[in-house]
Amino acid sequence: MESKQKEFKSSSKHYLSQKTWRFLRHILPLSFWNYLYSLRQLFLLNKLESLIHKRFISLEKEEHTKTHSSKKYQELIKSHSQDFMTDIEILKNLFNQFESDKEQLHNYNYLYAVLFKEIKETAKKVMEIGTYKGASLRSWKAYFTSAEIYGIDIDPATIFSESRIHTMLADQNSMDSLYNVNRQWSQEYDVIIDDGWHQPEASIFTMLAFIPQLAKGGIYILEDIDQSKYSKFYQKISDVFNGFENYYSEYIDLPKLVPNTGFNYNYGLLLIIKK
Ligand SMILES: C[S@@+](CC[C@H](N)C(=O)[O-])C[C@H]1O[C@@H](n2cnc3c(N)ncnc32)[C@H](O)[C@@H]1O
Repeated sequence: MESKQKEFKSSSKHYLSQKTWRFLRHILPLSFWNYLYSLRQLFLLNKLESLIHKRFISLEKEEHTKTHSSKKYQELIKSHSQDFMTDIEILKNLFNQFESDKEQLHNYNYLYAVLFKEIKETAKKVMEIGTYKGASLRSWKAYFTSAEIYGIDIDPATIFSESRIHTMLADQNSMDSLYNVNRQWSQEYDVIIDDGWHQPEASIFTMLAFIPQLAKGGIYILEDIDQSKYSKFYQKISDVFNGFENYYSEYIDLPKLVPNTGFNYNYGLLLIIKK
């Protein structure tokens, strides 16, 4: 299995283009790179939004109606954080113990306490895209006491397994690769978190492949949305999901709701729940 996975990685043109993209960002003058980048986004974002429309309309076989975004979880974080303080602390300690940046840089523990407190003992399957050194997978293993934890990543160095943790090589920029994950692990996830490549193509491909794999009541989160570039785009994606009978969605401007971590990252999150 391992050699097959390595073979897959070295033949992935998407991984190479990702490296090229990173390289360009470092050699081009920033203003020129930003100009090229924003032109590219202009064409890309509409296309990605329409992919979401098509995929989920065909799954639901029903008309999509426009609705306004909701704020249920933002209200809970803003006004009722005290009720979740124990879990906010538990998650903070786990993320720091295993060295994930989810608390120190982002204070994501405030949102995750609100979302996960009720299911921490009952969730059966949790997946994270973006495994890196396994820090968040190990945090989830400790927090979700009955769950099997699944991680995917493009980098072979991130592949490991231990009790209740399973990892697989996959590339978020390739639908084939993501569908391959579904073929091997096809199942209903209680929680899916995307902490991988964080570019719109990769994030939308990942939604297309994995949101249909959510269990009833399952929670999908896209982390680290750079709000200076993508808040409008993901607010639209959130509205699209709210127009479907079977989904609830919220675009979460977390930095406005939680204490400043001192790193001044203005990153939002997209939440999608399968009803
Ligand atoms: C921020 S790190 C994940 C950190 C981890 N979730 C944690 O909290 O400990 C991002 C990971 O995304 C992976 N990644 C980058 N591009 C990817 C792609 N196209 N497909 C899958 N994973 C990718 C990187 O290899 C890296 O390990």
